[in-house]
Amino acid sequence: MVALKTFLPDEDATLALGAALAAGLEPGLVIYLRGELGAGKTTLVRGVLRALGHSGPVRSPTYALVELYEVSRLHLHHFDFYRFHDPREWIDAGFRETFNGRSVSLIEWPEKAGGILPPADVEIALTTSGCGRSASCIGNSPRGLRCIARLAERYPPSPSVS
Ligand SMILES: Nc1ncnc2c1ncn2[C@@H]1O[C@H](COP(=O)(O)OP(=O)(O)OP(=O)(O)O)[C@@H](O)[C@H]1O
Ligand SMILES: [Mg+2]
Repeated sequence: MVALKTFLPDEDATLALGAALAAGLEPGLVIYLRGELGAGKTTLVRGVLRALGHSGPVRSPTYALVELYEVSRLHLHHFDFYRFHDPREWIDAGFRETFNGRSVSLIEWPEKAGGILPPADVEIALTTSGCGRSASCIGNSPRGLRCIARLAERYPPSPSVS
């Protein structure tokens, strides 16, 4: 399977999709998160981090551009390029070094980064649909396809048995 499309009726469903995505992560993976303001991109990242065992807050890196997490033996970089205007900012901050093949990159607003990003292995698009969201997850490379295949094995999550 190369693509997964699903409807996310509420925030918990977005968190669950993030948890399923966490199972497919491997070092070096570059994931673009597309969608308008409030589409649920940061919520999805929160779902990923919670599933990996991160218990602290997951802040939107709108001003800092990037937040770093080390969790479950993965280095994870969460970017938000919404307020990124000048690629020199990027060079000054030494951010290129963050795409070193060892860390996982989850990137909000990649289209605002002015073409300085490596290509996406995985692209996830979230769109508002009624009160919920539609999600489409696509793999663009061999490791991106592996990620989506693992995600699809775990999604939708089976209902818990009580
Ligand atoms: N599937 C869903 N259905 C309804 N609401 C959702 C869903 N997923 C997330 N939300 C809600 O959408 C709101 C915005 O989410 P979030 O901050 O993750 O968006 P974002 O795409 O990161 O926005 P921005 O571009 O501003 O960073 C939050 O209040 C969150 O609870
Ligand atoms: Mg966000």
